Amino acid sequence: MAQFTLPANSKVKPGKSWPAVAKAKRPKTFAVYRWEPDSGENPRLDRYEIDLAACGPMVLDAIIKIKNEVDSTLAFRRSCREGICGSCAMNIDGTNTLACLKPIDEVKGEVRIYPLPHMPVVKDLVPDLAVPYAQYTSIKPWLRADSPPPPDRERRQSPEERAKLDGLWECILCFCCSTSCPSYWWNGDRYLGPAILLQAYRWIAETRDETTGERLDELEDPFRLYRCHTIMNCTKTCPKGLNPAKAIAEVKKLLVARR
Ligand code: SF4
Ligand code: SF4
Ligand code: FES
Repeated sequence: MAQFTLPANSKVKPGKSWPAVAKAKRPKTFAVYRWEPDSGENPRLDRYEIDLAACGPMVLDAIIKIKNEVDSTLAFRRSCREGICGSCAMNIDGTNTLACLKPIDEVKGEVRIYPLPHMPVVKDLVPDLAVPYAQYTSIKPWLRADSPPPPDRERRQSPEERAKLDGLWECILCFCCSTSCPSYWWNGDRYLGPAILLQAYRWIAETRDETTGERLDELEDPFRLYRCHTIMNCTKTCPKGLNPAKAIAEVKKLLVARR
């Protein structure tokens, strides 16, 4: 039977509050999801008041400030701080995005921060991405060609061939799209989801790859591909402005065309 409420041990309870320092000029509250797997306790929402006058402009700046100056137990992922590595993906103000690209000033009122939705949580804001990474491996995301490369140079593409990869190569595998997709929420164990399908299409569109037919065979499946119902959440949320729904549609078109 469908369950419409969270199990009792998953309900988010009010947590601790950390007020700003007395001389704060521009205090702003960040409500942050906290969960410690070893504590046996429910998740909680801790509230940190940060002085924006002494903080960088992005949500990630505030999270780093909290970790460095207020509460070192907060766990999150980040690396590049400029929208390249994909590690700081989280749900901010109700939308999946990259904390390092999200200006604090865009959020009215308190800034609510949760981990990417519908993924198991390792701790606090760190989701367990083992399944999407295994799905990424399953599409063999590398160039496969049996014919030998030219003896004196690399395999080349014309500018037109290379242009076919625009809108695909920029994907940083942050999984903001997959974790905003209702089909992926319900069938994430069997449906590949928009991030992996965009990557799959990146290798199908690759003119130097010689396994296009095999790649399409592997996707032609009621779950792996056809759980996409063109709901478009993925494209709406992508912080890199990419269009995974279009890439999925291109794969479907190729499958129809080869029948
Ligand atoms: S378009 Fe497809 S992949 Fe994107 S959110 Fe909708 S169902 Fe998911
Ligand atoms: S398509 Fe966009 S949202 Fe999805 S994984 Fe790639 S960069 Fe992230
Ligand atoms: S820290 Fe690398 S994308 Fe945000």
